[in-house]
Amino acid sequence: MVEQPKAVSRRRFLESSSAVALLTALGEHVCAADPPSGTIHPKRISLAEPGPMLPPVPAILLTVKGKRDGSDEISVVWTFVVNGKPPQIGVSVHDRHVAGMLIKEHGEFVLNVPTAEIVKPFDTVDMNTGKIADKFALSGLTRERATKVDAPTVAESPIHVECRVFDTIPVPPVRSIFLASVVATTVREGVCDESGRLIVPAVQFFGMTAGSGEFYTMGRKVGHIGQTVGRTDIKY
Ligand SMILES: Cc1cc2nc3c(=O)[nH]c(=O)nc-3n(C[C@H](O)[C@H](O)[C@H](O)COP(=O)(O)O)c2cc1C
Repeated sequence: MVEQPKAVSRRRFLESSSAVALLTALGEHVCAADPPSGTIHPKRISLAEPGPMLPPVPAILLTVKGKRDGSDEISVVWTFVVNGKPPQIGVSVHDRHVAGMLIKEHGEFVLNVPTAEIVKPFDTVDMNTGKIADKFALSGLTRERATKVDAPTVAESPIHVECRVFDTIPVPPVRSIFLASVVATTVREGVCDESGRLIVPAVQFFGMTAGSGEFYTMGRKVGHIGQTVGRTDIKY
């Protein structure tokens, strides 16, 4: 069994800018593998069109309450973690999207994690606009209500992250970043263990590759955060 480096807090680990200080602090827990020597890397080419060519990034079904006389909105967005404690996330939304206008009005929304089982309704949501149709009705997804914020949710999604906006950053020319506190997270039974830790194989997550526009589920587990320092307790 690997002994835990109790004396070194994760924060100190992250804040340390000195590799020497870090190695001293972690002692024998660091098993720095030598970089492979003599590897011949394939030739690199520059693409004519630069772009965010990234591995599959999970996109989320964002739900937000509609206008007084309009339908609730579902939209597809990418999201990012701003902070673990307190839990905060961010989304970047095009100003002409219905979701962006409604988030500005209500200040609350839900991130509904989609699964491979609902990849078709997910694409229907993306390919249609709330300006001319109710995307809940079009996609066949089931509307429910969130527990803490005044917003709809997608019943088919196993994980709901309920969010309240605390800051909005205009990103010229056409976007706004909404920074939001996570005020409640609800999961279907079987998705987390008793300690609230996610059981990854219980959910068929998928993401989209920017660079080919394809949806991929997750592959096999190849490691975990803190493995190089013998830590198994970090989950974010
Ligand atoms: C994988 C993926 C990620 C997306 N991420 C975003 C995003 O982060 N922000 C955004 O404004 N639109 C994003 N979109 C596009 C919008 O979700 C989509 O155009 C939206 O459904 C438009 O709805 P509306 O016309 O009702 O506003 C994404 C689409 C896909 C397929």
